[in-house]
This record gives sequence, C-alpha cells and structure tokens, in this order.
Amino acid sequence: MSVIISPSVLSCDFANIQRDVEMINASEADWFHIDVMDGVFVPNISFGFPVLEAIKKHATKPMDVHLMIQNPDQYIEQFKKSGADLLTVHYECCTHLHRTIQAIHAAGMKAGVALNPHTPIDALQEVIEDLDLVLIMSVNPGFGGQKFIKNAVLRVEQLKNLIRNKGSHALIHVDGGVNLETGKQLVEAGADALVAGSYIFGSDNPTETIAKMKRL
Ligand code: DX5
Ligand code: ZN
Repeated sequence: MSVIISPSVLSCDFANIQRDVEMINASEADWFHIDVMDGVFVPNISFGFPVLEAIKKHATKPMDVHLMIQNPDQYIEQFKKSGADLLTVHYECCTHLHRTIQAIHAAGMKAGVALNPHTPIDALQEVIEDLDLVLIMSVNPGFGGQKFIKNAVLRVEQLKNLIRNKGSHALIHVDGGVNLETGKQLVEAGADALVAGSYIFGSDNPTETIAKMKRL
C-alpha cells in the first residue's frame, strides 16, 4: 500500500481556505491534517471549531485532527461534531490516557496518540492495542516549517517493533519537517502516513508535490 499523505492545513492560505481545500480534494492526498493549538501546551495558538467546520463543509477526505491542547477530554464530542474523523491527543496532555482513547472511540472517531520527541516509545506499551494511530513528532510541536529531528527515523523503527510484538493495528504517522528526502527515510523505516505542511504549500505546484510524496 502506498504511504498516506496528510497535508497540514496550518500552512495553507487562510484567506483562500476553500481554494486550498479543493486543491487537496482534487489531489492524490488522503487526509486533511488539522493542527489545533491552545497556547498553553504549545507556544502558539492556531484555530478552533469554526475553522474546522468551514473546512469540513468543503473537504471530501477524512479530517485528521491533531490536538495540541491541555485537557482534551472536555472537547471530544465537540470535535466530532465539527467534523473530525481521526482525533489525536498528546500523550503529554493526558493523565487518564486510556479513558481518553475510549472516549474518542465512543464518540465514533479513530483514536491517535502523539508523542513529543523526548517521550519514550515504550510509554505506549499498555495502550498500543487500543490505538488506530500513533503520531511521532519529528519536530517540537507548535509551528510549521521547522527542521526535521533525525532521531524520529529510529523512533519509527522502535514503534514498528512495539506494534508487531503487541499485534496492534495502529498506523505509524509522522509529523514535522517532512519532505521528499526525510519522507523516504521514514517510509523505509516503516511509516504508514506522513504529514507535510510547508513543503507542500511552499512548493510551486502543491498538487504535483503531493503526487511525488505518494510515490515514496
Ligand atoms: C507542528 C504541527 C505540524 C505542522 C507541520 O506542531 O503539528 O502538523 O503543520 O508543518 P511542516 O510540515 O511545515 O513541518
Ligand atoms: Zn500536526
């Protein structure tokens, strides 16, 4: 199966959001990656429910929502209502992670957990069988356009082993600094899905860039 490509809407032109959503619809991309930041867990604020709803109105592909927010539990239902199909929370934000994963499933979404670059892969040992997706951060979350942290490639291999050992069906998704070069290393290491923001939207022909990434 070819790698799943999830363009990050954070890098799109917000004054022309419908145009950029339609570009992704018509491209070979698989999902919409949507970064929600609260200014507390990460040092940046992005957008919330009205923007998700506006994207959902035009999007013809699943919404892969990445929550960089403290206490995500209280908003799970509302993210479902705003159009999230996959909901990813940060390990570092969830005291009762197992309960949070169950609540995401109960709301009718696929559940993902994101790991900051310093969080050991083994932290997911007890929940990996319940997850649909793990998001390995290959930058420190908060901003688009940062430099790829190379150690993420080794972390993908470690996660692959954990998934195999536990018989989990979780997909390995990687986020931050992904381009054709880093993307190739990640796919070779076992990544199933890649987020790319600045590399796609900063290129001369985003549709073609997505097509090239699909062929990694
Ligand atoms: C970073 C976000 C990413 C970001 C990726 O905190 O989670 O999804 O949009 O942007 P690039 O691909 O530019 O690193
Ligand atoms: Zn993200």
